[in-house]
Amino acid sequence: MIRTALTDVVGISHPICSAGMARVAQADLVVAVSNAGGMGCLGGVSYMPDALRAEIEKIKKGTDKPFAVNLLLPGSLTTEDEQQWAPVRDLWQSLSTEERTKLAGVESLLTSGAVADQVEIVLDAAPAAVVLTFATPDWFIRECKERGIKVFALVGSVGKAREASAAGVDFIVAQGFEAGGHTGYTSTLTLVPAVIDEVEQPVLAAGGIADGRGLAAALTLGAAGVWVGTRFIASPEAYGHDAFKQRVIDGRFQDTTITYSYSGKRMRAFANDWTSAWETSGEQTAGFPGQYAVAGTRVETGYQDGDLEFGMMPAGQTVQLVHEITPAARIVEEMAAQAERILRQVTPRD
Ligand SMILES: Cc1cc2nc3c(=O)[nH]c(=O)nc-3n(C[C@H](O)[C@H](O)[C@H](O)COP(=O)(O)O)c2cc1C
Repeated sequence: MIRTALTDVVGISHPICSAGMARVAQADLVVAVSNAGGMGCLGGVSYMPDALRAEIEKIKKGTDKPFAVNLLLPGSLTTEDEQQWAPVRDLWQSLSTEERTKLAGVESLLTSGAVADQVEIVLDAAPAAVVLTFATPDWFIRECKERGIKVFALVGSVGKAREASAAGVDFIVAQGFEAGGHTGYTSTLTLVPAVIDEVEQPVLAAGGIADGRGLAAALTLGAAGVWVGTRFIASPEAYGHDAFKQRVIDGRFQDTTITYSYSGKRMRAFANDWTSAWETSGEQTAGFPGQYAVAGTRVETGYQDGDLEFGMMPAGQTVQLVHEITPAARIVEEMAAQAERILRQVTPRD
């Protein structure tokens, strides 16, 4: 067994977390990972409030082990100022009925008040951890501490790590640009030790980790564990069309690209007709979260319909390393076992 600050503080067997991937990481994946001794994280961002409550209930029925929920709490989503929501509301209203139907139930980023309701639900449910991306507001961290919820901050730069550290989070997840989803400019191999040097909190490594070699490398860099996204897409428990999962299995390094077309923020996703049409159109994004109104139907077309050319599908460079659909529990167990074997070989004994 590999013991680290992550396993000890959260109370899990393996220093492995599945990432809170919006839409992809639903209750089935979270339950499978947590029951296998890792920490599963619900992709909480995309749920409308009632659905979020129901999904957390489903997790609690499936496991009594620690699990996490991912939320985005930048001021642009938590503000109650209706003026600030006006451009997003206009974009939403400009969608066709068919497009709005496609987004029904997953329009939380485009709905004023939805994120505030998500916060209430998550605080009430008190999962072992909440993982915050983009922002770490003091008020939320205080509320979590009162309830014994650990707060993780997912960051892509040393500067953001410093901010999250000063805000008082419990763990920092340093995500290199190999990662699928929103991403920065620095590789995991350089970002993780740089963040460790800057903050006092334990640091997890994210981006480019797909097996026990990645876990062993992260631990050797000084990380307390890993946060893994793309590898878990290719599991039966992940949500998403089979064609999307097959694309992950078939994928090579050159198949992902950096795009702003999903949310207005920098992201790694599969390159396809949609991403290249967007890049060559010269259109400016509608910013965050408005751009999601533009791209949300593309996201759903990818996940629901398996449209590989016009769907918008985040994925990381580990598509090169993923060769089959594997049950999530086996991914966790094999990753832990392989890392233990490697670390026994490379750790000098005295
Ligand atoms: C399909 C997909 C969806 C993602 N959605 C989110 C999200 O909703 N919130 C978030 O903080 N990160 C999200 N991410 C990023 C992951 O949390 C994680 O940092 C990343 O997947 C790690 O790199 P890897 O893909 O190389 O394992 C997503 C990643 C993928 C591949």
